[in-house]
Amino acid sequence: MIAVADVSALRKAVKALPGRVALVPTMGNLHQGHLSLVRHARDVADSVVVSIFVNPLQFDREEDLQAYPRTLEADQALLEAEGVELLFAPPVETIYPESMAGHTRVEVPGLSDIFCGASRPGHFVGVSTIVCKLFNMVQPDCALFGKKDFQQLLIIRRMVQDLALPVEIIGVDTVREKDGLAMSSRNNYLDAEQRSRAPTLYAALKNTAAALRRGRKDFSTLEKEALRMIAEGGLKPDYIGIRRAEDLSPPGKDDASLVILGAAYLGLARLIDNLEVEIP
Ligand code: PAF
Repeated sequence: MIAVADVSALRKAVKALPGRVALVPTMGNLHQGHLSLVRHARDVADSVVVSIFVNPLQFDREEDLQAYPRTLEADQALLEAEGVELLFAPPVETIYPESMAGHTRVEVPGLSDIFCGASRPGHFVGVSTIVCKLFNMVQPDCALFGKKDFQQLLIIRRMVQDLALPVEIIGVDTVREKDGLAMSSRNNYLDAEQRSRAPTLYAALKNTAAALRRGRKDFSTLEKEALRMIAEGGLKPDYIGIRRAEDLSPPGKDDASLVILGAAYLGLARLIDNLEVEIP
């Protein structure tokens, strides 16, 4: 694996890669969820590029940015073992050589302002800006994102469509621990007692999905029931939303492809998860 940190070395290295190139953008602290993206990338492309960059522009709280786990050496070893061709791990100055305040931003309005966007103002502008920038730097044929960040995935799809970026976006299923908890770098913030409560979020989503499949259409009551279940499990609910999977708009009674989105605070962690549901 070649590891580069600056853009001219990156461009040179990408040019030398054979065939179709896949990009897996990450913020590092890699776990099985990221490795699943890398393995999918290998299935759909000839060469795999992984980026590791903890993007300050998408953090709404300085403490969160400082506390974000940085484990470059261990990440590098994992990617090496996966046979990744190229790692791009730039320092902040390479991505934001001047002040971030004056940096051009990419915004997908509407979709960026609800759910996680409402709880973390500016977060998705930071995400779409860095992803657009990484696409321009790497110029991949396709890029892979986890479905755990369902709202992020839709925002990136919309950005690619609106800006006519020549990158195919591929969503990859969430990887879960045995008890259902979605894998996330933020799970590291949980102590043993909190970790035992954490699967409640997924359990509430599963309950809601089962009720929808049984034919319930009282979406707002279902959302309230899920919020109650999360609170009773000892988590502090942020939001639960039942939406159309295509664009996160409120569902009508005849919509068949739905997604249940949820977020909750637990100790220092903010857990997010979602479940797609097809109504028979
Ligand atoms: O999902 C993430 O890890 C980040 O939001 C991403 C897509 C790498 C952009 O920084």
